[in-house]
Amino acid sequence: MPTPQVFVTRQIFPEALEMIAREARLEVWPDDYPPSPEQLRRKLAQADGVLTNIMDRLDAAAMAAAPNLKIISQMAVGVDNIDLAEATRRGIPVGHTPGVLAKATADLTFALLMAAARRVSESDRWVRRGQWQLAFHPMHWLGVDIHGATLGILGLGQIGLEVARRARGFEMKLMYHSRTRRPQAEAEYGLEYAELPEVLAAADFVTVHVPLTAATRHYIGERELRMMKPSAILVNVARGPVVDAKALYKVLKEGGIRAAALDVTDPEPIPADDPLLSLENLLVTPHIGSASVSSRRAMCLMAARNLLAGLKGQRLEACANGDLYQVKNRGC
Ligand code: DGY
Repeated sequence: MPTPQVFVTRQIFPEALEMIAREARLEVWPDDYPPSPEQLRRKLAQADGVLTNIMDRLDAAAMAAAPNLKIISQMAVGVDNIDLAEATRRGIPVGHTPGVLAKATADLTFALLMAAARRVSESDRWVRRGQWQLAFHPMHWLGVDIHGATLGILGLGQIGLEVARRARGFEMKLMYHSRTRRPQAEAEYGLEYAELPEVLAAADFVTVHVPLTAATRHYIGERELRMMKPSAILVNVARGPVVDAKALYKVLKEGGIRAAALDVTDPEPIPADDPLLSLENLLVTPHIGSASVSSRRAMCLMAARNLLAGLKGQRLEACANGDLYQVKNRGC
């Protein structure tokens, strides 16, 4: 079998590139910015495998330009940048990296939750602006307690479950809503399942972990935000479009909810003049949920393993279009 050709769309951890280079001819896109659609199509024309991230659009046109493509391996758990149906139609398995980033993303969820509750970035901005003139006042900078509060987890996948695990240490009451009920997790973590409106109405903190699909675009819109308590805090670490940004601005500005903390925005990057950024009760981080050294290294290595397995027609460690296996009896 001739040595396969692999295109990696960004610099990644060297260990992962070395692993691929042992079994394939490797080309790595050198820029920080992704290849344009035209540049990507040109690279894919030669490729047997491609290792992507969330900024690369693998749509039908990209796949049509890739006659030899046997594997798309994404170093992320989310694959909303990839046309999964088209990949399945073409018999191309799509690898992804669930699990290895769950703890890091749950850590960041908690960092955001705590920062919003205790006004950490808001007060930091205030100090840096030279506004700390009065050393202490009993009634200033009051936040809300995390311990003993009710947490509503939306989407109980691996990340949601890790969030529940952390919340237990804070003696929080745990509720969740998810596509699938998880009775074992309910028993283990004391999680109470409820319909979405019930969770929204009861929670002091709502954290969002659902994948972005056609069904979850604006999953949290104005109606849902208005179901939340005026004292509640929303944390989104999933994908920006899962929350309706215009509705969020309106509700936050009116004090319909207390605060929001977002690791993901719509669009990304959020423009510096976006109205949301004018609000003091909003905290934003630049999509860094999985950005710890060990988590990102593990994602790169898992993506490399998925890529090599796909090139050999072997089962992937994690495949986002598992239905391919039924359709074609291959790959996933
Ligand atoms: C993912 O994995 O989907 C994150 O958004 C990037 O790590």
